[in-house]
Amino acid sequence: MASPKQALLIKHAAQLATVAGPDAPRCGPAQSQLEVIADGAVYCEGERIVAVGSTKEILKLKAARGCKHVIDATGRAVLPGLIDCHAHPVFAGDRSDEYSQRLAGKTYREILDAGGGILKTVRAVRAASMAELVRNLRARLDAALALGTTTLEAKSGYGLDEPSERKLLEAIRALTRGPRRHAIDLVPTLLFAHAVPQGQSAEDVVAAAEKATPRLARLAEFVDVFCERGIFDVAQSRRVLEAGRKAGLRVKVHADEMCLLGGAKLAAELGGVSADHLLWTDDDSIAALKRSGTIAVLLPGTPFVLRIPYAPARRYIDAGVPVAVGSDLNPNCFSESLPFAFTLAVYEMKMSPAEALVAITINAAAAIQREREAGSLTVGKLADFAILHGPSYLHLGYHVGGNPVRAVVKRGRLVAGAI
Ligand code: NIG
Ligand code: FE
Repeated sequence: MASPKQALLIKHAAQLATVAGPDAPRCGPAQSQLEVIADGAVYCEGERIVAVGSTKEILKLKAARGCKHVIDATGRAVLPGLIDCHAHPVFAGDRSDEYSQRLAGKTYREILDAGGGILKTVRAVRAASMAELVRNLRARLDAALALGTTTLEAKSGYGLDEPSERKLLEAIRALTRGPRRHAIDLVPTLLFAHAVPQGQSAEDVVAAAEKATPRLARLAEFVDVFCERGIFDVAQSRRVLEAGRKAGLRVKVHADEMCLLGGAKLAAELGGVSADHLLWTDDDSIAALKRSGTIAVLLPGTPFVLRIPYAPARRYIDAGVPVAVGSDLNPNCFSESLPFAFTLAVYEMKMSPAEALVAITINAAAAIQREREAGSLTVGKLADFAILHGPSYLHLGYHVGGNPVRAVVKRGRLVAGAI
């Protein structure tokens, strides 16, 4: 006989932010998707949410009343587990020297063009063992989990050749299944064309990416490219993305970060799931994103560390483009924190707290095609929750520089913090 599923009841949440309003998950204005229930409760069986409502309503259910495993969330906000839809969490080495160089006035591009930046991390990754990469990845995932992240997109991109890109994707896979599996659900992305090694041309890397993609595709769900002036131009990026599409991967693009090159339009043209960064834009790019339903993934941690202007979030939102926000965790923007991204989204990109919450939950889930599984407190979805110290989701941005997350539940089990 199958063992009965473990049940969990969370009750008396000062605020249950379901992020599951009556509108279609990611299309309506953010505010209308943000349902908040006072004195809320959620009842789960196994890995799934079974009922969501007020504590009074949920305690009418016999199964919920009889539940042995109960979390009393009095005085705390309960949110969907946060979704990090853009991260580069597998890397080795240290780039704190570049932090000093940037503080002294060097730009990101000057450092990269001199063989540092991504290329420095590539050298460290090529020299690292698989065990070291997995250990580093696990440590970063542990940090992200404690900050409320329960699903995270993980890009390769520090290999730039087939064996090293494979090593990065296999490190991700090592923590995705089997006994070493991490509590965070990982969504792997192949980012072969991320930079051009010294002594090679962009054409060389594109040709290598085209050749390797069919062989690496089984280890990934998405294909991505750094479409940027002097890195991969639009035509080269198109070839990389087409190779991914042919191999069954969905498209994402590092687009229009340092200048308006046309990356957002390319993402839209190829039916991309997301276009990411988007610091630069124009009306045509915005219209293209809107037409194709491509999600604008904004990453405010990066302009924060680079001390450059932020993405014009309001333009995207006001035009009706769905906006998600991610951490961009990488050795340049070294932060696993979605609460930090939330803070920047509100203070610096002028998003409302409600829009920012939608952006790190349901819209982020849609940006990695997990909106049917995660990103809102909806019956049938995964029992993934971030439980805050404070009584309102506003604490995500209001509590600055510390960790506003008290405990994290993943697939119905307490996996971080304490309650
Ligand atoms: O998204 N812009 C390109 N790639 C990363 C940075 C990677 C790095 O500097 O290591 C980004 O910001
Ligand atoms: Fe990135």
